[in-house]
Amino acid sequence: MAADNQTYIHGTEPEEQARLSLLNEILNTRCLRELALQGGERILDVGSGLGQFTRAMAETGASAVAIERSPAQLARAVPHPRIDFRQGDANQFPLRDEEWGTFDLVHARFVLEHVHDPLAVVRQMARAARPGGRLVLADDDHDILRLHPEPPGFAPLWIAYMRCFDRLGCDPWIGRRLVTLLHQAGAKPSRTTWIQFGSCAGDRAFPAYAGNMIGVIVGAREETIRQGLITGQAFDLAVAELRSWALLPDAALWYGMSWAEGVV
Ligand SMILES: C[S@@+](CC[C@H](N)C(=O)[O-])C[C@H]1O[C@@H](n2cnc3c(N)ncnc32)[C@H](O)[C@@H]1O
Repeated sequence: MAADNQTYIHGTEPEEQARLSLLNEILNTRCLRELALQGGERILDVGSGLGQFTRAMAETGASAVAIERSPAQLARAVPHPRIDFRQGDANQFPLRDEEWGTFDLVHARFVLEHVHDPLAVVRQMARAARPGGRLVLADDDHDILRLHPEPPGFAPLWIAYMRCFDRLGCDPWIGRRLVTLLHQAGAKPSRTTWIQFGSCAGDRAFPAYAGNMIGVIVGAREETIRQGLITGQAFDLAVAELRSWALLPDAALWYGMSWAEGVV
């Protein structure tokens, strides 16, 4: 399938790259635990972003090919002797003929929600894995987010944010589809779990979780307003309420990342 010109909702501005780094700090240990790498695996990481999680995987002794479309993200990725960073599109993996069918693990985190044809991507992931190799898909299902006490204006703000994805031709609810995607791509689904992606006031990491959520919303401000999904005034008021909510002594953010694993 040819590369398409999809819009990446989060962008690659320095503030967004800082948010993505923060997200890596709060999630990587848990994701690594779920992956249970043995050391020495050959990994393909699709949509590797700033490469922090690819690096975390490589540091277990694995080697990796990391595919990322954005030159701005690649420019910020720290080189690693066992990571081959390649610019390329998830819709058309930049692999050499002899590399197809060889990877022990093919992984994509927070990527399928950003592409127009996730099944085509997962089909390529299945082709890239060796027989018996693993596919791991980790992504959001934005519909499961709950904040308590719910800040005024948050519900329409979050709905506008989710609709912004689907107006761009992407799926904000893809988390629930991950097992179906594995099955449709010809892999055998084997396991699902949630990765805790929420927290509450009093947890040292809470400001990072709240900051990540506010960051993705604020980053989509122009696009959400441009699409007529919310007015600028309603957007800004709701974000101000959200920032105040994040300081409450009983603020709770309930969220999880969908994780699905299959074998080829
Ligand atoms: C939310 S980031 C996640 C990065 C990384 N997987 C992580 O978990 O830290 C999504 C990344 O996917 C990249 N991306 C989006 N669409 C892509 C495509 N079609 N091909 C390759 N990369 C893509 C974006 O540039 C961005 O760096």
